[in-house]
Amino acid sequence: MSFLSHLSWRYAVKSFDSSKKVSDLDLEKILEAIRMTPTSFGLQPYHFYVVSNQEVQDKIQSASWNQPQLGSASHVILMAVRTDLKKNKEEYFDLMSSGNAEVRAHLKGFEDVMDGFIGAKSEADLLVWASKQVYIAQGFALAACAELEIDSCPMEGFDPVKVGEILWIPENQKLLVMLPIGYRPKNTELRPKVRFSNKELFTEIK
Ligand SMILES: Cc1cc2nc3c(=O)[nH]c(=O)nc-3n(C[C@H](O)[C@H](O)[C@H](O)COP(=O)(O)O)c2cc1C
Repeated sequence: MSFLSHLSWRYAVKSFDSSKKVSDLDLEKILEAIRMTPTSFGLQPYHFYVVSNQEVQDKIQSASWNQPQLGSASHVILMAVRTDLKKNKEEYFDLMSSGNAEVRAHLKGFEDVMDGFIGAKSEADLLVWASKQVYIAQGFALAACAELEIDSCPMEGFDPVKVGEILWIPENQKLLVMLPIGYRPKNTELRPKVRFSNKELFTEIK
């Protein structure tokens, strides 16, 4: 199947075959796709949790309007935005310069631009901006799952405070979205794709 046929194969699975588990190798590929996500300035203002513990999944399910995707999934990937962007920026420049002061000095122009960008925004605006990067990662994860013929369901329908308490999420992170992954039950009824037409979605300016 091509990339596009994989995208039409995928759908938001509402319950998984809990007897089927995603292999370590496939999980690694999905996480690598997430890691390869492009982000604004390359900052990667996020953190991810990968849960494959039944007891924890059941607790997450009960904090998510009891949606059965969560307890029946092979793994649940939880995506959090970082709120400590100044520290995040420091870590990023440390990484880029491998701790080398000369290289770091060379990057000063870029760092000043980023400091200016971060400094000019309110905390609320920064949270919105950083959150968008998390959703790009979600898109990459969805596409990677489809490519591997692994089912998934993007989910915002949960109580982030309750789930944050279950996972002991630190104060500098805020959960935004979850992605349970696994395999659709056999003979499951497929959900039709409901999408606006090209005419409604796209305006070509030639
Ligand atoms: C950001 C986001 C949040 C979503 N939250 C939920 C959710 O909490 N529960 C759920 O069953 N589906 C959820 N969905 C799935 C959508 O309802 C589904 O993707 C959409 O209807 C399109 O259908 P398809 O994914 O089957 O093509 C969510 C999707 C996205 C992208």
